Amino acid sequence: MKQILIVDDVEDIREILAVYILNQIEANIFQAESGQEALDIFKNHPQIDLIISDYNMPNGNGGFLYKKIRESSQVPFILHTTEPPNRYPDFKEATNFTHVSKPILRESFFKVLHEILSGDAKAVRRPKYVPVSLNLLKKSVILPGDIFVRLGTDNFVKIAHQGNTLVKDDFNKYANKNIKHFYIEPKASLQMMAQLHDILNLTDVDNTQALQMTSATVDFLMNAKEELGFSKEVQDLTNKNINKVLKLAESSPQISTLLKKWNFDENSEFADRCTMIALISTTIAKRLNWVSDKTADKLAFAALLHDISLDLHQISQLRELLEKVGDKKFQKSPEGKAFLHHPLKAAEILQKWPQSPPDVDTIVAQHHEKPDSSGFPHGLNHMRISPLSAVFIVAQDLADYIVTKKGSGSIQDWIKLKKDYYIRGEFKKIIETISESAN
Ligand SMILES: [Fe+2]
Repeated sequence: MKQILIVDDVEDIREILAVYILNQIEANIFQAESGQEALDIFKNHPQIDLIISDYNMPNGNGGFLYKKIRESSQVPFILHTTEPPNRYPDFKEATNFTHVSKPILRESFFKVLHEILSGDAKAVRRPKYVPVSLNLLKKSVILPGDIFVRLGTDNFVKIAHQGNTLVKDDFNKYANKNIKHFYIEPKASLQMMAQLHDILNLTDVDNTQALQMTSATVDFLMNAKEELGFSKEVQDLTNKNINKVLKLAESSPQISTLLKKWNFDENSEFADRCTMIALISTTIAKRLNWVSDKTADKLAFAALLHDISLDLHQISQLRELLEKVGDKKFQKSPEGKAFLHHPLKAAEILQKWPQSPPDVDTIVAQHHEKPDSSGFPHGLNHMRISPLSAVFIVAQDLADYIVTKKGSGSIQDWIKLKKDYYIRGEFKKIIETISESAN
């Protein structure tokens, strides 16, 4: 396991950095708030593989630390500052040295991190298995590869060979043990994606089946990207799924008609939620006469990918995390900070995604803002939330309600609850539009 020393006098920066690094690689993290403290830690732990340090700190700045370290070691050193490196003469002839500008939570930082630690970005975190939901495998005609069950952190047991079939009883047996995912090898996940392309191409399915498939595909993609990264295959399948959702929305102009066809399944709650946001938001946009194809595209894209920065654990805890966002203690914890940052992190990822239409990053960055400024990460008020983000935020609220109620709550019930809340600017217009669509 890699050993990393983070040096910064701001605790928040150290903690956020630690969370993000641990999200990327397995590592043992040391923290120091000054150059002197870092030096003491390094003396006791000379096996440290990398130092990431701020410059301006009381009790030993980054230059002091670098010079002292170089007296005995050539450990890689990342200087992490807002100013460019030429502002710091101490590093003029630095060796094994990289400069990264704040804010540090950028893809470029992780690229540097991976390169320093391994020389090969892929070698740091080689995926062994990709989780696939039982729901999705149930729908594939042939197994895409050998199927494994996870018994412990690194303990996977093969339960079926490629070419075999698993029958309903097999799935029920594992579902009863509260197992939600099986695992396949990465090479089989490409096969799984090919199957999903075929399934999404099927034309002789009704809307209910099509909804299930798009939802299951969202679920698979969230898992696949966790292990495979944002590979071309992952992006292609996502685009295909977005088109499928758009076609579905087109075929059912009434939101209530679509929601009636929903088959609620708690194993795919997150994916259902994303698909539902796509359908509701694109339908609202159409009814508002924002008829451009691009508008629907942007909303569907944002709906399926707005939480792309969350890991599987965060997704499984999504409802609990959202309930805690107002809690001061949670806001200060590393877990809370990472969660409160997730809209911006997701927007950053999508900015680099070539097929992502313009404005998607704004919708994604604002997807937890609220018209009364009580949202996060920026607490924007209704005037500063973009009109498309407003559509998304309302659609998300309705989708949450429907998914949580598992179909027992109607759109009219939700409108009764929310009509006095969404009274500002675009929000008022949007809820009136939903109200018309629900009648
Ligand atoms: Fe989110």
